[in-house]
Formats: sequence, C-alpha cells, structure tokens
Amino acid sequence: MKKSAALPVITTRLLDWYKENKRDLPWRETTDAYSVWISEVILQQTRVAQGSDYYVRFMRRFPNVHLLAEANEQEVLKLWQGLGYYSRARNMHAAAKQIVSRFNGRFPSHYSDILSLKGIGAYTAAAITSIAFNGPFAVVDGNVFRVIARLFAIETPIHTSDGIKTITEIAQQLIDRDHPGTYNQGIMDFGSVICTPRQPKCADCPLQSACMAYSLRRVADFPVINRKNTIKNRYFNYFHIVDGDKTYLQKRDHADIWKNLYEFPLIETSSPVDFMQLEQMPEFRDLFSGIPSLSVDYPLTLKHQLTHQVIHTNFYRVIIPDQFTYRQSQPVISVEKANLSDYPISRLTHKYLETI
Ligand code: ADE
Ligand code: SF4
Repeated sequence: MKKSAALPVITTRLLDWYKENKRDLPWRETTDAYSVWISEVILQQTRVAQGSDYYVRFMRRFPNVHLLAEANEQEVLKLWQGLGYYSRARNMHAAAKQIVSRFNGRFPSHYSDILSLKGIGAYTAAAITSIAFNGPFAVVDGNVFRVIARLFAIETPIHTSDGIKTITEIAQQLIDRDHPGTYNQGIMDFGSVICTPRQPKCADCPLQSACMAYSLRRVADFPVINRKNTIKNRYFNYFHIVDGDKTYLQKRDHADIWKNLYEFPLIETSSPVDFMQLEQMPEFRDLFSGIPSLSVDYPLTLKHQLTHQVIHTNFYRVIIPDQFTYRQSQPVISVEKANLSDYPISRLTHKYLETI
C-alpha cells in the first residue's frame, strides 16, 4: 500500500472539521466534472444560498455538456438572468462546444486541458481537477486568501503577485494529496463559516492553537490589503480661460497620470471645493493675479474613472474682461483657440471640449 507523508496538523484538523460540518449542497451529491464546473461558475457570481437554486434549475434544463453545447444562447442567458456578468454564461456555452469538438464530449481530466477551456481560470481549473479527478491542485479563492493570511500572519498584501504566490505555495503544501477535493472544499467552507471576513469565530475554531494571527492577537490585521489597489478619489478643478481668441494650457510633467499631455490650468484639491473656496487659495491668486473681476460660468462637472482612481472634475469657464491682459506664468502657455487640436490632451479634457 502507498504510504502518504504525514499531513500538517492544520490539514488534519481542517479535514476533521469538514467531516462534521460539511454543508449539504446540491452539487456535493456528485463528483461529475460537468456538475462541478457549473456549480463553481455559478458560485463565482453569487452566494451559496442563492446559487443552489440557479444550479438546480440549470442542471434540470442542461443535465450534460452535450445539451448545453447544443442549446440556443438566448436560453442559456435566460437561465443566467439575475446572476449578472453575462460573459460568464457565454463563455460557459462556448466551453461546452469546445469540450464536444476538441474532447469528443468527454470532460478533460488534466489540469492544463481544463485550463485551456474558454472562461476557465486557475481557480475553476483547480476546483474541477481536484473535486472531479482527485488532482492535487489547491484552490485559491477569497476564503483561502483570508484563512491562510491569518493562519500564517502573512504581511505581504494579498492582491499582489508576491501575495498570490506566497498563499498559493502554502495552500499547495497544506493540500491532502489523497483527498484534494475534500481539502479544497473544506478550507472554503471553513472560511465561510468559521474564519469569516468580519468577526471570525476564533473561540470555536479548531485551528486556534495553530493560528499565528490569533497568538499575536492581531487577527483583525489580516489579510493585509494593498492600499494601492483600492480606489482613490481625486478632485481636479480646471480653468478654461477664454481670453479673446486665446486660451491657456499646461503640460503635465508629473510621473502620476497623463504624463506629457496638455490640460487647462489646474488646481487639485484633496476634497471637493466650490469656487469661493478656490478663490481663497494661493494657487488661484497666482493664476489670476492682476485680474480683479472675473466672469465665471457654473462649472461643468465630469467624473472620470481610471483603473485605481476616480477623478472628480469641475471645469470652470473663466472669461477675461476685454480691458485686462491675462499674463500667464510658468508652466502655463498661451494657445490660439484654432490651434487647440495641435496639442495632445487627456481623454477627460477631450470629453469636456466635446461637451461645450
Ligand atoms: N465556494 C465556491 N465553491 C465552493 C465549494 N466547492 N465549496 C465551498 N465553498 C465554495
Ligand atoms: Fe481564523 Fe480565528 Fe481560527 Fe485563526 S483562530 S484560523 S483567525 S477563526
């Protein structure tokens, strides 16, 4: 008989816990790859309670990969309605066709073949390979990130490539190679029932004595979330200065965003401000020194979404009265209105110019 290496104590306690506390879920009545796949894709969209109903309805209508492959897309999308993110359903439909055409309708059993199917990423491939085919691939989902970050007091932010690598390696060391599917489902259930995002049930936790975050009394510090990956709000106040046939631009030379693009003179603030507040600022006085009476329109407000920041902008149109000469200072340059299109500008400024 094959002799397995001793399992880490965390693994045996997780498996013991799961044996006693395993949730009764419709997809756990089978280890058929198609069923596992459908359930995992649904569970990426919704919580277990709501997911069960969708799973049961989906499986009743499309009990196997052939029926799904032959289905009409409208009907697949109809069954998906309410789950959102329809591209997941379309990918599933396309993957069913791939299984029929490339694998003769038999669900592939090797991790790399499964990963090659449309819409299937590392998580889903590991879930299917382990649960349906006993392949030794650890799943890493939100639950696993949280549980492992706490157990090992991982200081690396989890949503970075280092964080993903560290957690994946630990998960891979914890896996029970003889029962990878049980281990994977066990750690996910443990994360949704005991080691929950808020107020984890440490008092009832079978892993308490092995948990570093607990012994450091720092459970609330883990997992570490990288602030760089959270959305930052910024407030841009632009001045579209109308001075006869001229206006004024400046070039962004900060490393920040839109480097080397041109924009209207700008005052960035750390919170939303109105025009009266702007007028009090030294930057404003530098911009409009020597011009006592400005005619200013209500701002045009635009919200601009970038990957990690939202730019809340007010564009003020400022008319320089005829009797004054606007004297710009560095880095502001004067531009003839007709030549505005010669300058490369950000999409945000472009949006503004299109609107006015
Ligand atoms: N969340 C997503 N898939 C799961 C599974 N198979 N078991 C427990 N929780 C899950
Ligand atoms: Fe999670 Fe608390 Fe258990 Fe540590 S002791 S694994 S933080 S529930």
